[in-house]
Amino acid sequence: MDIKKLFGFEGKTVVITGAASGMAKSAAELLISLGAKVYGIDINQITLPIEHAYYADLGEKENIDAIVNDLPEKIDALFLCHGIAAFPGNELKVQKVNFYGQKYMAEKLLDRISDQGSVTFISSVGGFGWESIYQEAVELINLPTWEEAMKWYQEHPDKIQNSYVFAKQCLLSYVTYRCMDPMYMNRKIRINAINPGDTITGLTKDFNKSTSPTGNEKEGEEMISNIFLKSWNGYAAQPEEMGYPLVVIGSDICSYVSGQLIYIDYGLTSNWKSMALLNKNEKSIMEISEESQK
Ligand SMILES: NC(=O)c1ccc[n+]([C@@H]2O[C@H](COP(=O)([O-])OP(=O)(O)OC[C@H]3O[C@@H](n4cnc5c(N)ncnc54)[C@H](O)[C@@H]3O)[C@@H](O)[C@H]2O)c1
Repeated sequence: MDIKKLFGFEGKTVVITGAASGMAKSAAELLISLGAKVYGIDINQITLPIEHAYYADLGEKENIDAIVNDLPEKIDALFLCHGIAAFPGNELKVQKVNFYGQKYMAEKLLDRISDQGSVTFISSVGGFGWESIYQEAVELINLPTWEEAMKWYQEHPDKIQNSYVFAKQCLLSYVTYRCMDPMYMNRKIRINAINPGDTITGLTKDFNKSTSPTGNEKEGEEMISNIFLKSWNGYAAQPEEMGYPLVVIGSDICSYVSGQLIYIDYGLTSNWKSMALLNKNEKSIMEISEESQK
């Protein structure tokens, strides 16, 4: 069996965002070795030997419009991977970079994605419990323009206070809501998201700082370890432990996989779910994770 043929990326056009670093960089490396023509987009320098690198802040509408104009006419697989951490004051930016800009870009490119193509996002275990904001997310998703979405955010400052979590939950709601939408389904374009657990990447420092109430990196590191690792005596993942499965999900190997929110967290969120089901009540992630450390 020819492994490259199984993936189906040979000679195919692939667009991947966030390709300068971390998970998307390792995904792009694999895509190149599988024979894909890779077009990468980032704000930082992309060092891989790809077909073409574009540089833009994908949190701004006009930048996305310009990049979309320049991208190839036909795209076989789109991977939307870029993301930032949340700090006080950047709540709206987090929505634009981590969710709304990604939704906007995917839908702008949809006409150019081949039949049976794929769109794959990186959300997060931070999006666990997305069902609780589904109604609001769908309201936001259904707004017809970027400007109306920005107005929605302005009118709902309380919703975006927990900004990283809300953006990642919106992304998971989007995959769930849109997977059977005619815009994807009529041409059998698959849409999925992976939800990574704690992974050592370019974002690690920022996550540590943003998790600590005082912005203290060391304290944040300890808190992240308590939430995501201690309960299973675990360890943080390497970027390729997320980037490689991401490629598999966007590939022909997963030709029947769509609408899926795939947690790559060594079972952590399944355990949270199990505890919530056994307790038969709704608990927040923090409550469940605190319990799991006892
Ligand atoms: N690292 C983790 O523990 C973890 C856990 C769960 C989810 N995630 C998610 O994984 C995805 C990949 O991040 P990573 O951990 O590999 O981090 P990373 O920092 O190594 O990679 C993210 C890339 O996105 C780029 N980027 C950031 N803002 C951008 C913008 N506005 N426009 C264009 N490019 C931009 C960065 O320059 C960087 O190259 C992100 O969506 C992140 O939220 C990370």
